Amino acid sequence: MPGLLLGDEAPNFEAETTQGRIRFHDFLGDSWGILFSHPRDFTPVCTTELGRAAKLAPEFRKRNVKMIALSIDSVQDHLSWSKDINAYNGEQPKEELPFPIIADANRELAVKLGMLDPDEQDKDGMPLTARVVFIFGPDKKLKLSILYPATTGRNFDEILRVVDSLQLTAYKKVATPVDWKPGDSVMVAPTLPDEEAKKLFPKGVFTKNLPSGKKYLRYTPQPE
Ligand code: BEZ
Repeated sequence: MPGLLLGDEAPNFEAETTQGRIRFHDFLGDSWGILFSHPRDFTPVCTTELGRAAKLAPEFRKRNVKMIALSIDSVQDHLSWSKDINAYNGEQPKEELPFPIIADANRELAVKLGMLDPDEQDKDGMPLTARVVFIFGPDKKLKLSILYPATTGRNFDEILRVVDSLQLTAYKKVATPVDWKPGDSVMVAPTLPDEEAKKLFPKGVFTKNLPSGKKYLRYTPQPE
């Protein structure tokens, strides 16, 4: 079955993009990466999403995350659409965006990566691309995927939030609880024994008492 599962290595595909031909692993280098797909160029929800992604590009850069979009149209269409996206953002209608858009006009990559939405079709009855978010770590393995149908736009604040959680939990033995935001307390990883947790988290470990008597709700301030 096509698609990518958590832990899978990113396929090292070659593709034409608005910033030239790429090989995906070379494009990622040692950075984190986000690949987000779009149903089609010149569509309303996609335009708002790419506008927001462009505005948030400095935030992704700060977190060492390389951004790349994909849509099932040509480079020429992507460049022309980019002018609309910049204009939507209230900027000069130029062809450049702060990240490349992959041209996948024959849907080869969309099929390979499991990105098609069978419920949304173009005028020829061909399926459009769903709104997929793949986040890869510096080891090029898939760390997170989110899949939205074409009719539901993504929340890019949430995407930045999950990048913060992925990066924190990749390097510290913690997990982030419901609705966590950077700066909030985090949970001590369930596999970490109490004695080790005390040493690892000098700001303290706070355990909530529960009717079961089990001491698994262990909070600590977000480590640096
Ligand atoms: C949109 O981007 O607006 C869109 C694309 C395909 C189906 C529905 C909405």
